[in-house]
Amino acid sequence: FQLSPQKVENSCPSNIALIKYWGKFENQIPANPSISFTLNECRTVTQMQFFPNEEFSVETFLSGNEEKNFALKIEKYFKTIEIYLPWILKGSYKISTENTFPHSSGIASSASGFGAIAKCLMDLDNLFTDNRQLTTTNQKASFLARLGSGSACRSLYNGLVVWGETPVVEGSSDLFAVKYPDTEIHQICKNFKDWVLLIHEGEKSVSSTVGHGLMKNNPYAETRFQEGRDNFVVIKEILKNGNLAEFITLVEHEALTLHAMMMMSDPAFILMKTGTLEVINKIWVFRKETNLSLFFTLDAGANVHLLFPNDNDCAKIEHFIESELLQFTQKGGVVKDEMRF
Ligand code: PMV
Repeated sequence: FQLSPQKVENSCPSNIALIKYWGKFENQIPANPSISFTLNECRTVTQMQFFPNEEFSVETFLSGNEEKNFALKIEKYFKTIEIYLPWILKGSYKISTENTFPHSSGIASSASGFGAIAKCLMDLDNLFTDNRQLTTTNQKASFLARLGSGSACRSLYNGLVVWGETPVVEGSSDLFAVKYPDTEIHQICKNFKDWVLLIHEGEKSVSSTVGHGLMKNNPYAETRFQEGRDNFVVIKEILKNGNLAEFITLVEHEALTLHAMMMMSDPAFILMKTGTLEVINKIWVFRKETNLSLFFTLDAGANVHLLFPNDNDCAKIEHFIESELLQFTQKGGVVKDEMRF
């Protein structure tokens, strides 16, 4: 390289899946398609310094503190994507990241983290080469992010985003995510709030790598993968009509199914805490009593994503959350976010 050291910076939001991805094949190919919405506030800001012609090495810092394990993960990741970015191992890196959400809150940072890294790599790639094989930079960033963390590939677009081939969404692919067409989404499904209740802060009891791996011997796996595929037909109709009651049923079912899969794996894992169950029961009673559209989804952990439309009723829902649900968090923790459209 003739190039001098380069410094690039990018920020990428996190996302939350409505139809979940849980189970994968070789090379990060998902066992079923998934759909998520991109968040607004929860994001990772990454600064990448590249020193060309130095021996390949990676140093990573999270909020100023060196993270050696993360550096090892990134080194491994860079080696797997060398075939797509031939210059990538020809230098050393200093990568500094900051999350806008509390560190060790249990909010998954891999989606926003790998999304931001992939964007930085694309910036460097644009400096080093004009050989673009994929149609847009965003699509290539999504492709690269997927190889770091599957769900990260959905963070490269706003709104509703699909990863995994499905006949229901034109242009969908197992290799990168695509935006779900905005024109096919009813207004009511374009504006949700997502308040994340931090029921349990700290490391997850099972990493998503282990979780995906457990699907290999799970006797219910095939049924689940087929259900994920079938649910795309269902969600397409719901998104078009804006049928909120059906949307709620589907989204909550998807979350509980993810957790059920972990309970039925060998070894079994229960990713919910007592507080998770208390909150779910309270939501169900609240919905029955008020008819207001407060519902939940879950990641592979104990925290609860409280979803509700950002409309005239949201003040009542927010009051309920603050007065009735915050007591189930470990430290009163809630991260207030919304869908980014
Ligand atoms: O992206 P990964 O490999 O960490 O998997 C995460 C999968 C879930 O977050 C549990 C579900 C999803 O589709 O985002």
